[in-house]
Amino acid sequence: MSPEISENSHTLRSNDDYSTVKMASLERLAESVVDELNKAQGESQMGLLPFRRTGNVSEQSVSNTTKSIGRRSSLKNRSVIFGLLAALFLFAVGCSKDGMSPFDPMGPVAAKQLDLFNVLMWVMVIVFVLVEGVLLYAIIRYRKRPGQAKPPQTHGNTSLEITLTIIPTILVLGLAIWSVFTLFDLQDPPEGSPEALHVNVTGHQWWFEFEYPDAGNGKKIITANELRIPVDRPITLSLESDDVIHSFWVPKLAGKLDMIPTHTNEMWFQADSDKINDDLPVTLYGQCAELCGLSHALMKFQVTVMDQADFDSWAAAYGPPPTISARAKAGQAVFAANCTLCHTIDGPDDPVLSASRLTGFLTGGDITPVPAPNLTDLRTRHTLAAGLVDLSETNLLSWLHDPSEIKANNYMSQRAVMYKTETGTSNLTNEEIDALIGYLLDLQ
Ligand code: CUA
Repeated sequence: MSPEISENSHTLRSNDDYSTVKMASLERLAESVVDELNKAQGESQMGLLPFRRTGNVSEQSVSNTTKSIGRRSSLKNRSVIFGLLAALFLFAVGCSKDGMSPFDPMGPVAAKQLDLFNVLMWVMVIVFVLVEGVLLYAIIRYRKRPGQAKPPQTHGNTSLEITLTIIPTILVLGLAIWSVFTLFDLQDPPEGSPEALHVNVTGHQWWFEFEYPDAGNGKKIITANELRIPVDRPITLSLESDDVIHSFWVPKLAGKLDMIPTHTNEMWFQADSDKINDDLPVTLYGQCAELCGLSHALMKFQVTVMDQADFDSWAAAYGPPPTISARAKAGQAVFAANCTLCHTIDGPDDPVLSASRLTGFLTGGDITPVPAPNLTDLRTRHTLAAGLVDLSETNLLSWLHDPSEIKANNYMSQRAVMYKTETGTSNLTNEEIDALIGYLLDLQ
């Protein structure tokens, strides 16, 4: 027997009682660990270690003063941490800027998903409060009191264990069934809905491409970062990615769905006029919800909900106008010489732009073209750089001068020849940039 154990405050009735000795050394070990933790707690003032030594061994190692300071500061620190967590929670639930809150659904899909969320959350809140309540009651009511003898030790209670297995099983099964039924229910627009409008959505680093194979009268539209949809009509979407995994999310219309390379995910949503309190058109906001590279957080988009008539006139107006101003004509040449490897504009300019693209491919050297937004309807958009700034001549000027000022890590700055300069800013002259803006925004 070691002398340490004989010094222990526990009375060892028999020195050769091996199990008693073993127990005593284990207790001693546990107590010294708790002592060390308390000491660390007092010194570091971190207050994160909920240990309190109950024995009387090595009382000297931690003075009462240190312990009480440690405990007081630990209480204070815990309050600070609790306060910070509460603030973080409030901050998180406050992130509902301009139409990004899933708690204010504007269509049937988001509304049903919110119902499911509410059921799941309240069942879990009730279970949490009950379980923690019983736990707290037991901790307080049956805590160790001075001079109290060890209570009778029991192991197991079959009927209690069966009950406590059956209740959660029923709850989990019920919630799972509800979830699966909601999933099936939301698979397709309900019977009797108006004819759906289909949109193919492609995720790119770091912007969204929207293609309407038939926006009405067989008209094909390709646009970027701004989805326009008619109200009260189901929108079916095929989601794909061109590079890495993105996630398509318009919180007020539907939950997230991944956009995966070489795999198409299907979803639908609808904006209901009776859930929208403002006059149309109304702008809702979307965001990529899957970490997809350095500018993931800058991959936003807008959804504009319009009357069917407004949508139709927007669709009819898609494409460049038949006349082109002198300023735009000069800009067309700048565009053809600098932008066509990645961007395009549909319409009468197609042959010119295609020819310059071919020349670019043949003579481009080390240029690596990347998919970039089709700019045909840029003049009708509200934002620039995937929803980052409002579309205006001033912002377009800054963007063309140095895109990285607005959106770090964008591929235009990294790949386009016009930015391969010492400072990374465009090598175009002010006149050329002005003409380019004229071509992109006026086109007439
Ligand atoms: Cu795309 Cu994150």
